[in-house]
Amino acid sequence: MTKTSLIIDCDPGVDDAVALFLAFASPEDLDILAVTTVAGNVEARLTARNARIIRQLAGREDVPVHVGAATPLVRPPIIASHFHGESGLGDLPVFEPDAPCAEGEAADAIVSIVMSRPAGSVAMAVTGPMTNLALAIQREPAIVGRLGTVVVMGGARREGGNITASAEYNIYADPHAADVVFRSGVKTVVLGLDATHQVRATPARVAAVKAIDTPAARAVAQLFDFAVWTEQTHVGGDSPPQHDPCTILYLLAPQHFTAVPVDLQVETGSPLTMGHTAVEFRLPDPESATCRWVTQVDHEAVFALLLRILAR
Ligand code: RIB
Ligand code: CA
Repeated sequence: MTKTSLIIDCDPGVDDAVALFLAFASPEDLDILAVTTVAGNVEARLTARNARIIRQLAGREDVPVHVGAATPLVRPPIIASHFHGESGLGDLPVFEPDAPCAEGEAADAIVSIVMSRPAGSVAMAVTGPMTNLALAIQREPAIVGRLGTVVVMGGARREGGNITASAEYNIYADPHAADVVFRSGVKTVVLGLDATHQVRATPARVAAVKAIDTPAARAVAQLFDFAVWTEQTHVGGDSPPQHDPCTILYLLAPQHFTAVPVDLQVETGSPLTMGHTAVEFRLPDPESATCRWVTQVDHEAVFALLLRILAR
């Protein structure tokens, strides 16, 4: 596999943290140019701190972290600390990281990186509200034609919503930003709940992580334990879906994911269905679609890869 140059835009966040551990542990395959953070699961100050904490635990302080948007484009912020804990990292011990954030806010860093590198060479994984990418597109529309694939965790079709009856959290938290991104025509692969609900941290898989004696595995085991607790407490069941890690696992092993061309539009007008993703498979010209929706995941293969990465 040729190394992928990557920007990770995230709102850590328990599952964002697992995704970061996987990405930081894959230097042979991923050249992480920057981590950009956004308000989402918890406020912007905390998501930036949390990204730096994971970076330090993973020994990857070579990767710059840029603080991003503190509020959505239009709607008021809506945090999800009930699913991620007050710190945003569940029960993981938090501390003030040694290395600071990098100069420059997230949207400007995205523009600068994408415009300074060969067209198509920079991919993105977006695992939180899409505010930073929307701001970057508004500031420099030329990035739309220069970005490589943008792998998004967001949306839902078959599975319904997880924050309202019809909306998934990342899209609901900033529907106007998602609308800007999907209307822009940037090339996206979207892992909605239809995909991520297939990839669950079952008790056997959590036990398998706990059997791995590495710092990353020990931290991910703690994050999984917290995710199991929130799943049992707020949803029911003992196998929390691993939403954000799917973006990194897709970039590392796309062969385990089935993605089909769709037309994806975001509801931004209706209070009842705000943030709903209308995913249309019936296209007059599938070849011209800029959005691909993941319908199927080989979750056994994907979790086997997760275990191999954590064992490094
Ligand atoms: O709906 C799941 C998404 O919302 C994940 O990215 C999780 O971190 C939360 O941000
Ligand atoms: Ca997230």
